[in-house]
Amino acid sequence: MFEKLQSKWKVSGWNLFLVLVTFALGGSLCGYLGRKLLLLTGLEGGVVWFILYIILVTLLWPLCVLLVSVPLGQFRFFRNYISRIIGKMKGSKPAPIAIFASGTGSNADKIIQYFNGHKMGAISLVVSDKADAGVLEIARKNNINTLIINKKQLESGDELLSALSKQNIKWIVLAGFLQKIPPALVKAYPNRILNIHPALLPKYGGKGMYGMHVHRAVLANQEKESGISIHFVDDHYDHGETIFQASCPVAETDSPETLAKKVQSLEHAHFPRVIEEILQNPR
Ligand code: GRF
Repeated sequence: MFEKLQSKWKVSGWNLFLVLVTFALGGSLCGYLGRKLLLLTGLEGGVVWFILYIILVTLLWPLCVLLVSVPLGQFRFFRNYISRIIGKMKGSKPAPIAIFASGTGSNADKIIQYFNGHKMGAISLVVSDKADAGVLEIARKNNINTLIINKKQLESGDELLSALSKQNIKWIVLAGFLQKIPPALVKAYPNRILNIHPALLPKYGGKGMYGMHVHRAVLANQEKESGISIHFVDDHYDHGETIFQASCPVAETDSPETLAKKVQSLEHAHFPRVIEEILQNPR
């Protein structure tokens, strides 16, 4: 049972313990306060008392667990937990996601398939800086809106921001987007822009480190392992907080192409799932 909860809530063993303690203490606090408040009404027992008690504890419960979660370091878990409950009650729709990509879009393709019919997120826009990028064809085949932007439009940020807000975009996923994200966009989407990099950052990141350049550099330095890094985007290339990394061995016989294949299979296996986890537990 505990293992099931751990995987459902995506928490480690110790955190699961703290989450359960928060549930218990928050629930008790809520029951206690509910009774104390009802004493003020002068009512004692009976159906009316019971109905009022149920209403009070339902209203107090989120406040109580949030309060208790702070000293136990579980505030983020409970904030997300409660907003998911509210979302379900409101029958909330999947969050619109935009994918930015400049290339063939194999990652975009995996993400689009993964989120097809998903409850939490929907890929509703594909943005590219290259009019002939393969990713645009993938988008069209999946009936997803596309937007082609040039460097100038990207740098100013305004036009792009208004296009994103028109489509109510809540998350941005960079899947092989070669341009720098303008500060205006980073500001408008704090911890809402994710990037994947084909190496173990902080090594082999930064300007000019993309595609085969990365794999060539890894091989030139005779690294024993490489891999992928999924991170939030900030104002610097390949620099924001790391969310997830996975590694693969680098063999002496590897060429940049064979290494690229190993890294790509890690990307396809993990990127959609990590995006889903972040949608469930935003920072
Ligand atoms: C991937 O290797 C990704 O890590 C990097 O750009 C590449 C995109 O590949 N940021 P694809 O177009 O998804 O095949």
